[in-house]
Amino acid sequence: MKIKYAEILGEIEPIISSDNSLSEILAAITRLLKNKIFHYDWVGFYILDKDNAVLKLGPFSGKPTEHTTIAVGQGVCGQVAETMKLKVVQDVSTEGNYIACSLEVQSEIVVPILVNGQFVAEIDIDSHSPAPFTPEDEHFLTALSKKLATRF
Ligand code: SME
Repeated sequence: MKIKYAEILGEIEPIISSDNSLSEILAAITRLLKNKIFHYDWVGFYILDKDNAVLKLGPFSGKPTEHTTIAVGQGVCGQVAETMKLKVVQDVSTEGNYIACSLEVQSEIVVPILVNGQFVAEIDIDSHSPAPFTPEDEHFLTALSKKLATRF
């Protein structure tokens, strides 16, 4: 079935503009994305702790991970914190700088959230499908990241 990204973005908008706290908003988005998009098996946010140059795990949906703190530069998440650029890994076995969360994970996409050109957080999505991410995922998640930046 074709994924209705525009519709999903429409459902996310009122969540972002609600009066809820940032962590409630992020948690609701992780639930919605995981439920609506079949190839999103783990959806979470990592938030930059600037003072310590680490990413701290924020709200997520999916199996708990032991990687609650990731150094900037380490793994796919840490690379994105450094480059501030979206990164798609269609086959995690080919990625040299990768932190495995679960053996089921085959692919990953990480999208930075920037405020005034500064990295503040990122959306991390793991998939159990091989090479599932398309340019549509990239456009959708980039649009989501821009909308979310208004709440940081
Ligand atoms: N795979 C990530 C680590 C985070 S887990 O996917 C939840 C990485 O390489 O940075």
